[in-house]
Amino acid sequence: MTEAKREHWDAVYRTKAADSVSWYQPTPEPSLRALDALQLPVTASLIDVGGGASSLVDRLLERGWSDLTVLDIAAPALDVAKARLGDEAARIAWMIEDVTVWRPGRQYDVWHDRAVFHFLTEREQRLAYRRALETGTAPGSAVIIASFAPDGPERCSGLPVERYDAAALAREVSSAFALQRDWREEHTTPGGGRQSFQWCVFRRR
Ligand SMILES: C[S@@+](CC[C@H](N)C(=O)[O-])C[C@H]1O[C@@H](n2cnc3c(N)ncnc32)[C@H](O)[C@@H]1O
Repeated sequence: MTEAKREHWDAVYRTKAADSVSWYQPTPEPSLRALDALQLPVTASLIDVGGGASSLVDRLLERGWSDLTVLDIAAPALDVAKARLGDEAARIAWMIEDVTVWRPGRQYDVWHDRAVFHFLTEREQRLAYRRALETGTAPGSAVIIASFAPDGPERCSGLPVERYDAAALAREVSSAFALQRDWREEHTTPGGGRQSFQWCVFRRR
């Protein structure tokens, strides 16, 4: 299963320009606003799960963050980000992993996931994600998850997705995580389409 998923995502990043995919954002504004609200020191550790070629870590490096990890199933996605960052890429830990198989070797102050969890359409995958989330965070860790909202797209990148409101996402991460904030976002795709996202910020109890 992992191999089929990897091949799918590898092909996406090999064949499409990073700024042409539907999830592209010139600046990851909602994530940066969510992080600002948390008022964390720049020494806090953050993992961008399924970070792909997102520029979130570029912006955080500029702000002085120093303990950043990007995990993605697709090596070509990380190659795009590394090429963009040049020498700065060496300041980031890059991990090519399927989050539903990965066993975190450390705990992070912030777990960030934009548009990854909603691809986990099987219960077993979601339970595996939750196990990784529990291992990769500690009491007090913040968890930022953005998924398609109930009125969001039914598919993305040719794959089916699950859609969530805040209460449904809270059930998925379990009562080990307290919901602190939630809001909706209308993302504009490079093609001018609109996609409804549900954002949630949790704090591990
Ligand atoms: C819709 S894109 C979002 C990318 C990035 N988070 C952003 O906001 O630009 C989904 C990303 O999740 C990655 N992905 C999908 N399934 C994954 C899995 N099981 N484990 C790790 N990464 C995965 C894909 O390779 C892709 O980069």
